[in-house]
Amino acid sequence: MRVLLGVTGGIAAYKAAELTRELVRGGVEVQVLMTGGAQSFVTPLTFQALSGRAVRTTLLDPDAEMGMGHIELARWADLILIAPASANTLARIAAGLADDLLGTVLLASEAPLWLAPAMNQAMWRNPMTQNNVRAIQALRPDCQIIEPDSGEQACGDVGPGRMPEPEELARRVLTWQRDSGVGRPENGPVRDLLGLRIVLTAGPTRERLDPVRYLSNDSSGKMGYALAAAAQQRGAQVTLVSGPVSLAPPAGVEVVPVESACDMLEAVRTVLQRVDGADWFVSAAAVADYRPQTSATQKQKKQGDAGLTLSLVQNPDILATVTSARQARLTVGFAAETENLLEHARAKRQRKGVDLIVANNVSRPDIGFNSDENEVWIVSAADETLVSRQSKTAVADKILDAALAADRLKRNIEETV
Ligand SMILES: Cc1cc2nc3c(=O)[nH]c(=O)nc-3n(C[C@H](O)[C@H](O)[C@H](O)COP(=O)(O)O)c2cc1C
Repeated sequence: MRVLLGVTGGIAAYKAAELTRELVRGGVEVQVLMTGGAQSFVTPLTFQALSGRAVRTTLLDPDAEMGMGHIELARWADLILIAPASANTLARIAAGLADDLLGTVLLASEAPLWLAPAMNQAMWRNPMTQNNVRAIQALRPDCQIIEPDSGEQACGDVGPGRMPEPEELARRVLTWQRDSGVGRPENGPVRDLLGLRIVLTAGPTRERLDPVRYLSNDSSGKMGYALAAAAQQRGAQVTLVSGPVSLAPPAGVEVVPVESACDMLEAVRTVLQRVDGADWFVSAAAVADYRPQTSATQKQKKQGDAGLTLSLVQNPDILATVTSARQARLTVGFAAETENLLEHARAKRQRKGVDLIVANNVSRPDIGFNSDENEVWIVSAADETLVSRQSKTAVADKILDAALAADRLKRNIEETV
C-alpha cells in the first residue's frame, strides 16, 4: 500500500517521524511531503532516512517534476494522510488553495483523505477552525477527520488538540488496508496489530511430586504457539510464557519458559510489570488447577504394598489474577471442556471477568489437545461465534480478529464514557 504522508508545521511533526517508521514496519510505502512550516520543526532528512524516499517539499521544483511530478504523486497514493494537520493547513484545504505542493496534490488526487489535526486546544476549539473542518467534511464527505486526543499539551494547556499516538494512527491505516483490501500485500499478513503488546501463556504446567515425577495434562501448546506466531506476524510485540512443550519458539517472539503454575504466575507478573501492563493478555495455557501439597526433593521410594494418597492444593488462577488487577486492557481465556461446552464457557467468562473465552471440546480426538487442527467457539458478552474445524494457524487468526474487534468496541465505549 502506498501512503502519501503530508506533514505540516505543528509541534506534533516529530510524531510523524515515528508514524513513518511504524508504517514502514507495517510494509507500507511511505512518501513524505512536507510543508515549509513542517521543515522548521523536523528536517526532511529525518523522513528520508525513515521512509527510504526523497521527501517532497516544493511545488515549483523542476528536478522533482522530472521525477514523479505533482500529478503523478497525486495518482500514486492509495491514501493521503496529513498528520499533523495544522490549523493553517485545514484553512487552506477548506479554501481549496493550490499555491504549494500539498494543496496542489490534494486537489489533483482522488485518493481517500485522512486528516489528523493537532494544535493548541484554543486553536482547535476556535470557531474558525471548526468551521474549516465542517467545510472540508461538506465538500469531501469521504474525508476522515481523526479527532485529536485530549490531554496535556506541549504549551502547558490541557484539552483537545493532541495528535493521536503514531502507533495508533499506523494501526488505523493498517486496519483500513485490511478491511478495504486497498493495496493489500500479496504475500504476508496485514500488520493490523502493530504497536500492541501481547502477553500470552501456552502449554501445560508440570506440578512436581519429586525430581522425576509430576502431574500434568495433554496440552501440546500448539494453539498458544500458533496465536503467538500469528500475532507477531500481524505486527504485535509478543511475549510467550510457555510451559514445557516440544515446539520451536516462534520467530520474533520472546519466550519465557516455565514449569509449574506458580512459576507461570510469577513470570506473567514479571513480564507485565516490565512492560507496564499489556494491551492484551491471552491465557492459552492449560494450567493445572491443583499441585501436590508437598514436593519431595529426592525421588520417592515405593512404600511396601500399600497404595499412596496424594494431597493436592489449589493453584493460583493466573487469568483471574491478571484480569482483576486490570493489568491488560483486553483479556482472553480458554475453556477446554469435554461436555456442555458453551454453558461452561459462558460461566467461565463471567466468573473470571474476561472479555473473550475461546472454548474447545477436548474430548474429540480430531481437534484440541495435540492436534494440528481445532474447532472453537469464541464467546464474548456480545456474541458467540463458531470457528469451524481448521488448522490452528487459521483458528489463531480468527481469534485475533475477534480480539481486535472486542478491543475496538471496548476502547470506543471507554472513550465515550
Ligand atoms: C513553536 C510553534 C509551534 C506551533 N505549533 C502548532 C501546532 O501544533 N498546530 C498548528 O496548527 N500550528 C502550530 N504552529 C503554527 C504553524 O506553524 C503556522 O500556522 C504555520 O504557518 C503552519 O504552516 P503549514 O500549515 O503550511 O505547515 C506553531 C508555531 C510555532 C512557532
